[in-house]
Amino acid sequence: VPGSLSPDPREIREIGRQALDLVASYYESLATRGVLQPTTSAELRPQFAGPLPQTGESFATLLDTVQDVIARFSRHSAHPRMFGYIASPGLPIAAVGHMISAALNTNVSGWRSAPAATEIEWLVIRWLKEMLGLTHNGVGLLVSGGSMANFAGIAAARSACLPNVVRDGLHGTPGTQQLRLYTSTQAHVSIRKAVAMLGIGTANLREVQTTRDLRMDPAHLAHLIAEDRASGHLPFCVVASAGTAASGAMDPIGEIADLTRAQKLWLHVDAAYGGFAALAPSARAYFARIGDADSIALDPHKWLYLPVGCGCILYKDPAYARAAFAADADYTRVIGLQNDEAFAFWDYGPELSRPFRAFDLWLLLKSAGAAALAEAIEENIACARYCAALIETSHDFELLAPVDLSIVCFRYRPANYAGDLNAHNEKLLLALQRDGSSYLSNATIHGKFALRACVLNYRTTRRDMEVLLEDLRRVAKTF
Ligand SMILES: Cc1ncc(COP(=O)(O)O)c(C=O)c1O
Repeated sequence: VPGSLSPDPREIREIGRQALDLVASYYESLATRGVLQPTTSAELRPQFAGPLPQTGESFATLLDTVQDVIARFSRHSAHPRMFGYIASPGLPIAAVGHMISAALNTNVSGWRSAPAATEIEWLVIRWLKEMLGLTHNGVGLLVSGGSMANFAGIAAARSACLPNVVRDGLHGTPGTQQLRLYTSTQAHVSIRKAVAMLGIGTANLREVQTTRDLRMDPAHLAHLIAEDRASGHLPFCVVASAGTAASGAMDPIGEIADLTRAQKLWLHVDAAYGGFAALAPSARAYFARIGDADSIALDPHKWLYLPVGCGCILYKDPAYARAAFAADADYTRVIGLQNDEAFAFWDYGPELSRPFRAFDLWLLLKSAGAAALAEAIEENIACARYCAALIETSHDFELLAPVDLSIVCFRYRPANYAGDLNAHNEKLLLALQRDGSSYLSNATIHGKFALRACVLNYRTTRRDMEVLLEDLRRVAKTF
């Protein structure tokens, strides 16, 4: 249908069939592909050259480009040995779902714009709360990802401390007091970014030390808060990590919650990576006190395996979210108790136009069920623990951090190696990435260069963990 903005139904069916063929073949090809095909920008750019097209080409030609260039030169998140980042593999049901939601093209700004989609978003938010065992009346909404969820949670915390900050700005803060936020040295960089965007200033982010296991040290947190109060500052928020990005460490949420309650501080939990481990029986105990949090950032596009574009912020008391985001600053009204049809998501978060993110979640949970997800997440944790055990019983690898969830930080340490282990492992990482059979990233653990494997893929098996270590040994022999 070159040149047409409005193909007829027969043509739509034909291009749809061709596209679905490509999607199915792509998933099939994962068994024989590497995680990536090495290339350079100089090699790739000419493939995408050309002037602004004035006329259309056939869809089949474009699909050839998808297959031969775009898919070929993508790093395959869906690959069972893509361990590089806290990245989801995506889901076939969501690939198909996106076609449907794009056809509906719903703008989920509020109930009136999107009655069914708004009801579905409320429903999936209730389901997400149930997954975490939350029993309070809090609400939430889907956002673009964990960074935006952290921003929204900290924005609500700021309004809880300074009710007029939206109108007055931080200039309205009494005297020379500075708002102070506390998070561990291991916290995700999006916390720092949120503090910057909210005008709090990164100098007012206090880094709390961790214990040896890389979890926030509550004693040091208490010390910093006391120090700031003595200096006349205004502590307002503690951000705990339910799974740090570097090593997956779980901060002690209960102890931190006791402190924030006693100090009357907002507790935000960044559970973007680890939150859905609450579904896994072997990790559930970590989340016993998550209900104490005033706000929680989640990322269904991480460990619920959804494709990129779906984060979630949950607020225990929506009044503070309204104080931060509602244009009329009427933050006394509670969602749901008055006129549901007047509800607008943009009173509770930063966006106005919003895609139908809840559709992915609804499709996934209705088609697979929470039990299948719990099983897959538990298996990811088991794979990470298995990998850690292989490392600990090997003669040539060394585990560098405890495995709380599904991230393994380790290094190659062949017997009698006398050189610089940091430099050696860095070289090994780059060689592994070029090799393509398995993909890792890196972290710094207690000053040491670590290889970092994140297991967040329902296709990954224990055999893949063995192959990863075999790949590292094989590649190490080449230099
Ligand atoms: C702990 C943690 N918080 C926040 C984020 C940011 O999430 P997003 O990339 O969805 O913005 C990440 C990303 O990896 C993360 O691991």
